[in-house]
Amino acid sequence: MVATITGHRFVREVLRFVARPPLDRFARIAYVQSTDGNEALRALVPMDDATLRSWNNEYEPPAGSQEPPVAGGVPSRQRWTVEDLHARLLFVLVRRLRPGTMLETGVHHGLSTRAVLAAMARNGAGRLVSTEIDANVGDLVEPSLRDRWDLRMIAPRAAALRAVVDSLGPLDVFLHDSRHTYLWQRLEYHLAWKALRPGGYLLSDDVDSSFAFLDACREWHVRPVVLVGRSKVFGMLRKPGVRP
Ligand SMILES: C[S@@+](CC[C@H](N)C(=O)[O-])C[C@H]1O[C@@H](n2cnc3c(N)ncnc32)[C@H](O)[C@@H]1O
Repeated sequence: MVATITGHRFVREVLRFVARPPLDRFARIAYVQSTDGNEALRALVPMDDATLRSWNNEYEPPAGSQEPPVAGGVPSRQRWTVEDLHARLLFVLVRRLRPGTMLETGVHHGLSTRAVLAAMARNGAGRLVSTEIDANVGDLVEPSLRDRWDLRMIAPRAAALRAVVDSLGPLDVFLHDSRHTYLWQRLEYHLAWKALRPGGYLLSDDVDSSFAFLDACREWHVRPVVLVGRSKVFGMLRKPGVRP
């Protein structure tokens, strides 16, 4: 009997490492869950209508980002990049928050990178540090946006990411979009949460790839804002506390 219960628990624990959470798990824990970027932004940080509209109007998607849908209804580029909806949200959020130091993991085409750097250029402030394991990335990031960008090639190891985080001091914003396994997401979330200043923001693409984001929210007693896209889910958290 005891052996059977222990066996069931073991299977449950193993499944937690490999399973993808269904969408209703986010609805149960989220402060707000939406398919509307503006609604999600407003839930995360106060913004009046006129400002929100003007920053939305400032955002220019890269040429060719509106690829025709392919099988499954997901444009081929968007199987790797954040979705256009999430890139726009990143632009407006960075306009609003005016982060000094932001860390992003995972560049690939650089749709998220480009949105953040374009907002920083408009702000006239901020620096984006991005980590990657592949040097051939960032084709969407125009040369004119690169002066605020610090791209760091790292080994896919905890120690390498920790060294980058330790070199930066307190983070204003962290964005995960690298490897979406439970253990790697968990590692990044925990390193970032520690490094974020009070009142800082943890953002993550693909929170529906594993239970790591949901587990972190429970552990830290924080309720996320969740933006549901066509093919994946983007999660956002504010670290409690007041900006020093
Ligand atoms: C989903 S893509 C990033 C998409 C990008 N944010 C965008 O919007 O275009 C994931 C990227 O993470 C990189 N990657 C994988 N493991 C990594 C790690 N441990 N650290 C940093 N980058 C990693 C991959 O090489 C890949 O380019």
